[in-house]
Amino acid sequence: MIETYRPLPGTLVRSVETPCLLLDLNALEKNFNTIARTYEGTICKMRAHAKNHKSPIIAKKQIQAGGTVGGVCAAKVSEAEVMVNGGIDNVLITNQIVTQDKIGRLCKLAKKADIMVAADDPRNIKDISEAAVTHGASIGIIIEVDTSMGRGGIRDSSLGVELAELAASLPGITFRGIMSHQTLPGKPDPETREIEGRGYIQKCLETKTAIEAVGIPVDIVSSGETWTYDIASLIPGVTEVQGGTYALMSHAYDYMDAFSIAAKIMSTVISTPSETVAIGDVGSRALGGVLPEIQDYPGVYVETVSDHQVILRSEGKMPLKIGDTFLLISGQQDIMVNRWDYFVTLRDGIVEGILDIEARGCVN
Ligand SMILES: Cc1ncc(COP(=O)(O)O)c(C=O)c1O
Repeated sequence: MIETYRPLPGTLVRSVETPCLLLDLNALEKNFNTIARTYEGTICKMRAHAKNHKSPIIAKKQIQAGGTVGGVCAAKVSEAEVMVNGGIDNVLITNQIVTQDKIGRLCKLAKKADIMVAADDPRNIKDISEAAVTHGASIGIIIEVDTSMGRGGIRDSSLGVELAELAASLPGITFRGIMSHQTLPGKPDPETREIEGRGYIQKCLETKTAIEAVGIPVDIVSSGETWTYDIASLIPGVTEVQGGTYALMSHAYDYMDAFSIAAKIMSTVISTPSETVAIGDVGSRALGGVLPEIQDYPGVYVETVSDHQVILRSEGKMPLKIGDTFLLISGQQDIMVNRWDYFVTLRDGIVEGILDIEARGCVN
């Protein structure tokens, strides 16, 4: 069997083989403590989205740090399975699960943990109910509301009421509440962030009001994400926030200065074909689709990535030479992390250990 490279604890970061995915534990813990502090004494708590790091060990750290509902979100049934097997007993799957096989897996999971799933269709809710009865399981239904993304989720509060009434009336399932997710492109100033965030979340809350008007309690309103983490928690009615990126952080959210970049990719220069170009030993196979940014080299930027290489361009003479290492910051950690087997965990520049990315490749 071929032995895969795994650096030993105590190795200095500069001696770690590249490319590698580094996880700075001090930054990670700082991010978790920011949430614990922000949500201290608030009704609303964090339900972190495990898609960001894909590790039940990190999810447990998140929960232990405080300020959370004690559970996580997962994007897929397989991701939820990894979380539950890793000891998380409360998972909201933030996508619609419609095939018989996957609904069956949901039911099996629901016998081990509190499982909730997003829904936006009556047929799907009936299918989940029937499967849950057959398996003797109980599954929570969360109605997804589309506030702006144009993907899954109801567009109209009246359908939300119809679905809540259905979920509340069928055996094997319980109507638990509603959810929404939204993004804001670019780097908004604090005022725009506040106005846009409140606007979207308010739209989600309209469905809560409509459901409650027919006498059905809405226990959970799961809305908000990294860019609204501090806005959502102050809006009456929101009970939890689905923050993902805040754990590892990405350059796309670098305007959120309460959080630090915890995951970085280290690469080595393998070629300097011209005065202003350096080529690094990592490409889209490991970086994902969004262009990363280089750290610590002002005037040097990522021009492009190919399958196995990153092409750095310098405004003046390239300061990097063959053999030098440099750090890249991802613009989308979820897709990037999905391409690695493990994080190399660091404390103060020294390897503390290896943390397997247990839910990598969980696409179904
Ligand atoms: C449904 C849902 N909730 C929460 C999140 C986390 O968002 P963020 O990474 O911006 O915190 C995502 C990310 O794509 C998502 O799809």
